Formats: sequence, structure tokens, C-alpha cells
Amino acid sequence: MAREKDVRELTEAEAAVELERLAREIAEANRAYHAEDAPRISDAEYDALKLRNAAIEARFPQLKRPDSPSEQVGAAPAEAFAKVPHAVRMLSLENAFSEEEIAEFDRAIRRFLGRSEPVACTAEPKIDGLSLSLRYEAGRLVTAATRGDGAVGENVTANALTIPEIPPRLEGAPELLEVRGEVYMSHADFAALNARARAEGGRTFANPRNAAAGSLRQLDPEITRSRPLRFFAYGWGALSAPLGATQIEALGRLAGLGFRTNPLTRLCQGVEEMLAHYRAIEQQRATLGYDIDGVVYKVNDLALQARLGFRSTTPRWAIAHKFPAQTAWTRLERIEIQVGRTGALSPVARLTPVTVGGVVVSNATLHNEDYIAGRSASGEPIRGGRDIREGDWVQVYRAGDVIPKVADVDLSRRPPDARPYAFPTRCPECGSEAVREEGDAVRRCTGGLVCPAQVVEKLKHFVSRPAFDIEGLGARQIELFHLLGWIREPADIFTLAARDAAGEKALVPPERLLELPDAESRAEAEARLAAAVGLERFDPAAFAERYRARSRTRLAEQLGYGERSAGNLFAAIEARRRIPLNRVIFALGIRHIGESASNLLARHYGTWQAFEAAVTAAGGREGPAWEELLAIDGMGEVMAASLVSAFRPGPEREAIGRLVRQLVIEPVAPARTEGSPLAGKTVVFTGTLERMTRAEAKARAEALGAKVAGSVSAKTDLVVAGPGAGSKARDAERLGVEIIDEDAWLRLIGEA
Ligand code: IVH
Repeated sequence: MAREKDVRELTEAEAAVELERLAREIAEANRAYHAEDAPRISDAEYDALKLRNAAIEARFPQLKRPDSPSEQVGAAPAEAFAKVPHAVRMLSLENAFSEEEIAEFDRAIRRFLGRSEPVACTAEPKIDGLSLSLRYEAGRLVTAATRGDGAVGENVTANALTIPEIPPRLEGAPELLEVRGEVYMSHADFAALNARARAEGGRTFANPRNAAAGSLRQLDPEITRSRPLRFFAYGWGALSAPLGATQIEALGRLAGLGFRTNPLTRLCQGVEEMLAHYRAIEQQRATLGYDIDGVVYKVNDLALQARLGFRSTTPRWAIAHKFPAQTAWTRLERIEIQVGRTGALSPVARLTPVTVGGVVVSNATLHNEDYIAGRSASGEPIRGGRDIREGDWVQVYRAGDVIPKVADVDLSRRPPDARPYAFPTRCPECGSEAVREEGDAVRRCTGGLVCPAQVVEKLKHFVSRPAFDIEGLGARQIELFHLLGWIREPADIFTLAARDAAGEKALVPPERLLELPDAESRAEAEARLAAAVGLERFDPAAFAERYRARSRTRLAEQLGYGERSAGNLFAAIEARRRIPLNRVIFALGIRHIGESASNLLARHYGTWQAFEAAVTAAGGREGPAWEELLAIDGMGEVMAASLVSAFRPGPEREAIGRLVRQLVIEPVAPARTEGSPLAGKTVVFTGTLERMTRAEAKARAEALGAKVAGSVSAKTDLVVAGPGAGSKARDAERLGVEIIDEDAWLRLIGEA
């Protein structure tokens, strides 16, 4: 693109032409980003377009177009598809990469069930596409939904109906049937689609998976119809009647109803047969005609599946055995350090772009300083002790969807002047000391709230999709708003509208505006700001005077946002003031407390008050509150320690307090416990159980809404005592706590 003319030098006629061009380009970029999942320009380029548009509009307000892009909030995801809550969550699978992990999967299942004999499992290809849930009522397809975040997907029914392998009607199906499976594109269809696109000068897809996803998520079903999508059924969600007693039987039933199931599905008696079938599938991988990325094993007996149940996001009864990752060699141009929200300094390899398994890779993670130096966290050599240097030839690999990694280095191609990499001991963002604590593989910036990178990353996390998910307030807006001084901590988000309405002048010191994030030079930033206040030429004093003299320093004016879009943003923020407890916990961005841990905590404590009081009380890392925290299934010591330290008195804790005062936090009900006799009860198991292992009993009790504690106290509601019960049963008697035996327990949970 020719160098753009300075806004100050535009004639009115030129400005009108430019505004028309900008409106078109921004609309096009929005469409590519939201509707096609395929951004065509970088975030910085996008912001530059919007800011230039705003600057021109500020200089020629009379030229502002009715379709002005400043009336639309930047990253507001187009609400293209309606949201559909899944009746039964769509989970993911635990991944394994080695035969040893599969042997452990088998052992863990037998341990959980307390069995010594082998557990039969199915083995079938893991299709590399995207999952889809098809809901049939009275034999008619009523909704097709993508996975989304597992709880809520996108309604793509009209598009699914164009796929020939998805029957619109079923004969003889249960009244309610949700069929789950994978939408994918064959290699031949993918090649033909890209060839056609190339011939027509259109957009090509990087791989069949992207092509399938892009084709299914089309706003116009006729486009989906023109794309050759296919569907393999591999499972089910909600059902009004069982499909069979085993996985194999149920798949047979789905095939009988007219679905394609994968012909390479086998029933295996134990680990040896599972691994043999994995190798057989791997042998055929190249000639299947569609992409697969591993083999999925599932316990065949559905009654056993039900007993095994789920962890927070994955079933205990299934695992994905992934194929080894694909690799390629390229040059490592430089090593950059990124600072994350927990202050971790993460080294990133900037690579000469290379294609790895059909995807162009130009960045890869280098993990940490030990990894670069060629040693493990415990000091053992890795890669034979070879270190990694800028300028080296390195091998990169991709395993599934995860960020590419650097695996190895070719010393024979090392440039003679390559120097060992010196890992910084100061934070590149704020200059604070970066330290490595005993036992931590990662060096962390000690700047905390003074480190802008940490603050911004924490804020980005706070507004991310599984957290507060505020429409129109994405990563880019956070960067800008933080730079402008409008949002420095999460609570500020919820006071933004009030401060804006009050025209809080001190909100943005004029000098800070010169740091416009996308300006290529200071001169460019000055030119834009001058234009924004109608000055011919930038002059600091004159600018500051005009800027302060403006009647209102409204968000709309300052950002070039239209009043309407600023209003939309405030409404989106307001809509999130009421928010479920699990999202709040996750949004705090506490180290080791991810989405599933946040769900566990929310379900366990129920309300913010209970959670906060418990975590504060557990601060001393001993005593009943600490014990209770550790007793939550899925909670480890490291997680618990990190959680309680976030609630110690100090600036972080105060910021949490200010946030909470802005919110209405919705309690979270314990899972699936309506009418459960155990909901909200605290249960202790003691002695030997004969029909169920301790692990299974604990999982069952928790699934029914109980807390399982390790010791008996006045808070205990029920003790389940098997033979050999000792002091715990005595404590229970002394405290007058109800004691039952295993048979009564089985009756209580409906197993007898
Ligand atoms: S079973 C409870 N079977 O893999 C989980 N998933 O990593 C049920 N996938 O989201 C999943 N082929 O999109 C299952 N044969 C197969 C599969 C398969 C592909 C995908 C699916 C799922 C993802 C989990």
C-alpha cells in the first residue's frame, strides 16, 4: 500500500474517499475475523485502520458516514450463531503419547473399579475435524450444535442439514436422541476445494480441519452446501432410552439408524490388543483419505462407563492415544521473552517460517531457561546436553492443537559466532528483578502490580471467554484502555461507565496519549492527536489546553468510538456485573487455578462468602479449613497453596475486594444433586469397602453433591464404616454422627 497521506494534509474530497475506503476495509476485516475464522490483517493493522478513521472523522465531522466503523465496537464478536446449551456437556479427552500411559490408563481403571481381570475397550480412529452434537426429537433433527466451550455451543442446524451424511429424519430412534460425532473433510475434497479457490482467486485453507470448521461455521447455509463435508458418529449425549449395553452395541444401533460409524472400530480385550490395533491404524493412516491424529480407547461396558464417570472435563473411561507429532527443521532467528500474567518469563523462538504438518509455524515455545541450556529442571542433560542459540537450526514439532515446540538443535549447522543464550535476570517489560524460586523451573518478574505486562495479561485473562467474556472488551481494547489509564485493575472495568459519564478529566493525562499503541513514530502519534483536537500542528501546550477544554472527555470521543458503540460496551459490562462464582474464581487468574479447579471450588463452597472465608481461614496452611480445601477431589497441595497465598493481605487481596464490591456473584449449586440424599452433606469413609473402591465411593459421593472429608468432626453428617473401621467410627459415635455400613451406603446411592 502506498504511504498514507498525513491526515492534516487531506482535502475534504480526499477525506471522503478515504472514509469510504476505511469503512469498506474495516467491514471486510470484521467479516473475515468473525464470520470466516480467518483474520486477513493483523490486530495492529486493524487498530491502525480504526484510528485513522477516527482521526479523519475528528477533522471532518461533517463527513462521518452513517455506516461509520467508529459506531461499531472493535472486537465485538458478531453474534452470528445463536447459543445452544448442551443438555449433556461435550467433554474432551485426556491425551496420551506413549504405550506406558495407556498401560497406566488400564491400571487406573482397574484400581478405581477394584478389578483384577482385563477391562475390554473399543479402539477407533480419532478423527481430526470438529465435533458436532445432533439433537433428534421424535426422529426429527431439531438442533445441530458445535462444541463451543463444552457447556454452550453454536446453533448450526441449517448448515448441518446440508451435509448428506447427516440424516434429517430417523426411523425407530428413541424419542430423544443426541448423536455426537466429528465433521470432517476428506483429502480429495479438500484438495479440490483449494484448487477451485486458487483458480477463482479466492481464499485457500491451511488444512482439512480448518476447511471443515470454516465451512460448517458459514452464515449462509448455501456455502456450506457447496462444501463437501462428512460426518462420523462416535457417541451420544442426552437419550430417552439406552442405545445398548456396550459401546459396540450402541455404535451398531447408530449405524442401523443411518449414521456412518468408523469401520476401523475394534473391540479389544486388554492393553496388548489395544496397542496392536493402534499400530494397525497408524499403518493405514496415510491411505485412509482423511486426517486422523490418534486412536481413542473407550471402556466397552456402558455400566462400567457409568461407574467410572468423569473428572472435571474428561471421562475416566476414555483416552486419546495420539500419534507422534510432526516435525520440521528451520532457523531460530531470535529468542524473545514474553511476560505472562503470573510474571513468568517465557522464552519464545522466532523462526524462519516453516510448514509443519500443513501449518505455517513462525513461533514456538522454548519452555524455560533450563530447556534452552539443555538440562531438565532437576539438572539432568536433555537433548544430550545440547543448548539452543540464536542462529541455530532447530527442529520444531506440533502435537495436536498446542503451541509448537522446539525439540532439537543441529550442532553441525551452528554459526561460528553463535553465543550461548543469556537468560535475562530482569523483566524486559518493567525492569524489576526476575527471580527463580527454589524448585520452580520458571523465572518470574517480581514487579507484581508495577509490571505493566503482568497487569495487562491479568486483565486480558479477566475478560477472556471462560472468565468474564465481556462483549467488545477483548485483548486489544484492554491494551489500549490500560495504556490510557482507564483500566488498571479489574474493578475499574465496572466503574468505567460512571467515570465516563462524570467526564472524569484526570482519567487520561494528555502526555500518555502520545503512546498510541499502533503509531509507527512519535511524529505520527502527534499528527493524529493534533487532528483529533483540530490543531494544524502538534504543540504540547496547545494540545493539552484544547484537550482539557473539551466539554466532556467521553470515552466515545477519545477513542473515536461512536456514542452508540460506547453505550454498547457499557451495556455489555453491565450485563456481566451479575456473574456465577466459578467464573469469578477463574477470572482472578491465580496461578494453578484454571477453569476446572475453579468449577470444583465453586461447587464445593457454593457462595463467594463461603469460599472467601474458607480460603482466608486456610491461609496458615494447617487446620480444618486447609484440610477441607485439600480434600476436594482434584485439588492438589500446590494449587491450594497458590490459592491461599492470593488471599493473604496485601495489594492483590485489596484489588480482589474492590472487584467483589462491584459484582453480584451468583452462587453455584452442587452438581447433579437435585433430590440427592447427599446434597450438601459431609461424608467420611472408613474401614474397607467391599463392593466399591475408596476412589469410586468418593467420586460417587461428590457427584451426588457431598463433600468427602478425611476426618470426623462436628461438621460431619455421615460416616460410612466398613470392616476394620477404627478411631473414625469411635469419633463419630462420640459426636453422635450417623454411621452406616456399606449395604446402607449402596442403598443410599441407589446401587442396591
Ligand atoms: S469421544 C467424552 N471419539 O476428539 C468425550 N472423540 O479430544 C467424547 N474426536 O471433542 C469424545 N474422534 O471432537 C471421541 N472417535 C472419537 C473421536 C473424538 C475425534 C474428537 C472430539 C472430541 C475430541 C477430544
